[in-house]
Amino acid sequence: MRLLLIGPPGVGKGTQAKFLVNHFKIPQISTGDMLRENVQNNTALGTEANIYMKEGKLVPDTVILQMIKKRLNKNDCSNGYILDGFPRTEPQANGLDKLLKSLNQRLDCVMVMNIDDSMIINRLSNRRSCKNCNQVYNLLYDPPKTDDICDSCNVKLFLRDDDIPSTIKKRLIIYREQTEPVIEYYTKFGITKIIDSKGSIKDIKNNIIKIVTRI
Ligand code: AP5
Repeated sequence: MRLLLIGPPGVGKGTQAKFLVNHFKIPQISTGDMLRENVQNNTALGTEANIYMKEGKLVPDTVILQMIKKRLNKNDCSNGYILDGFPRTEPQANGLDKLLKSLNQRLDCVMVMNIDDSMIINRLSNRRSCKNCNQVYNLLYDPPKTDDICDSCNVKLFLRDDDIPSTIKKRLIIYREQTEPVIEYYTKFGITKIIDSKGSIKDIKNNIIKIVTRI
């Protein structure tokens, strides 16, 4: 099963991808998480990527495509994977097509998630993440048991640099300009499914699993 989750920042792609990982036992491939790991480990890639990420801009396509090529060639991807946050430009979608052809693979479903901008700002400004285990919480909708502390690691949670309202607005503009055309691209292949992403985390999870199980 090869799935792709696409949608604006904060719509819930990462949250839902984690449920799919547990349900279908395939890895989540999040370019955002991979880039943040590089930033945290001070790699050359992380240093370059952070210049763009802090500003809410997209990291250059060539950097992303090289990273994805390496990742999809790993053994744990042989039974499938969930792409989260990639591709988000047309050149990335074309690059993925070429890569999939070379691997003799194809995508089974592109899940398109969407909500209003006001909900996005609300979800993102209340998001808190754990640096240690990457668990994501929401102070309003999915809070940790103790304020600002990760349930599993007992460390202080943090607000991402790009989750401040002015940067969220920039990310939304870039999403509309560069990532929405990618949805049209996949619509032509007839593999898109629209996921109403306004409801509770649990309802959306059940809906996605129902849809994917029917593919
Ligand atoms: P990335 O990490 O991919 O960020 P994003 O796409 O902007 O998405 P987010 O992680 O912000 O949101 P999400 O949809 O996963 O929401 P989540 O589940 O956390 O990218 C970051 C940066 O890296 C980019 O800006 C760019 O610079 C760079 N980058 C990454 N990939 C790239 C690429 N391919 N090309 C170029 N550059 C790239 O949920 C958000 C919050 O809402 C959480 O608190 C969660 O608990 C809560 N929540 C989730 N669902 C619900 C619900 N149903 N109800 C209430 N709350 C909910």
